[in-house]
Amino acid sequence: MLNIIEHQDLTLFNTFGIKAKAQKFVSINSVLDIKELILKEKIFGNKILILGGGSNVLFTQDFDGWVLHNEISGTDILEENDDFVLIQAGGGENWSDFVDYTVAHNLWGLENLSLIPGTVGAAPVQNIGAYGIEQKEHFTNLEAINLKTGEIISFTNNNCLFGYRSSIFKTTEKGNWFILNVTYRLNKKSHPVLNYAPLKAAFTEVDQKNIKASDISQKVKDIRNSKLPDPKVLGNAGSFFKNPVISQEQFKLLQGEFPEIPSYPQENGTVKVPAGWLIEQSGWKGKKYGNTGVHDKQALVLVNHDNAKGSEVKKLALQIQSDIKNRFNITIEPEVLML
Ligand code: EPU
Repeated sequence: MLNIIEHQDLTLFNTFGIKAKAQKFVSINSVLDIKELILKEKIFGNKILILGGGSNVLFTQDFDGWVLHNEISGTDILEENDDFVLIQAGGGENWSDFVDYTVAHNLWGLENLSLIPGTVGAAPVQNIGAYGIEQKEHFTNLEAINLKTGEIISFTNNNCLFGYRSSIFKTTEKGNWFILNVTYRLNKKSHPVLNYAPLKAAFTEVDQKNIKASDISQKVKDIRNSKLPDPKVLGNAGSFFKNPVISQEQFKLLQGEFPEIPSYPQENGTVKVPAGWLIEQSGWKGKKYGNTGVHDKQALVLVNHDNAKGSEVKKLALQIQSDIKNRFNITIEPEVLML
């Protein structure tokens, strides 16, 4: 039986800790729950927000539609051989707990993605990535239900059109699907990915053969904890902006002026530059604006110091965006969904 709650307070359902209300709020615990909502309540066509851990959303006002909270749980090994495991997790499973589970079972693949807030179902939507890997590298498929028809289909890795913090669920298929479960293919054999410089540095003295997935996971947690605020202590949604990608020509000009600018050359000849660096150079790092501000250890993270309104955070984000445009002629796009 579905429990549809009206005017649900969302403060505890978003890691920014912003006060906002949902007109209607439903917990989805099973395929049956979501089918009932689609077929009996006919929610398609209304404003719908699928909420996982609420770690990538900024409420700038009350949400005048349906919030579907994905609480589908369960972790299953679907297939296993000497080399690989196919492991499936419910869309509502906590991502970080899922990674810990895989690491505890000596499975390789997701350890660099330790401690990322959010749910398993949200991971492919924005193709989460950190410390040298993206979830797409181990993703095999997901099952999702069509919010209009109730049809369940499997999306393969190719179908998802994964890009940097992007997938088909953020682009052409936005708003059409509810993700039920996700399957990853993980290695049983050692497979350390240490191309992120600070991670590499931490393991230079160690023989690669002796590194365990749990060692990398722990180091990633240490790095994250040193830079990124814990949402339970200081409201935030991780990186607020995506790292912009610019042309080689524009990068050369910029490098002429700022020789120390960090950069990540892309396969197609463009260059990704860290938005955190641009924001820090512009003097925003650690600045407080009323109840909101820019984190003092990572300029890409905006924080809720004390009961900030979503609109205040948005105003700060727009100011930073326009300042970066004026100084560097670079447009930084929000990674966080502003509603
Ligand atoms: N930098 C600064 N000042 C800052 C922040 C960064 O100069 O305040 C410089 C750093 O010195 C470094 C470069 O920018 O040279 C990159 O910084 P960092 O390694 O901290 O990573 P990022 O590009 O700021 C991205 C992801 C993070 C992910 C890290 C590590 C995006 C939008 N963000 O951040 O993901 O954890 O790399 O892989 O791509 C998230 O998406 O929410 C997130 C936290």
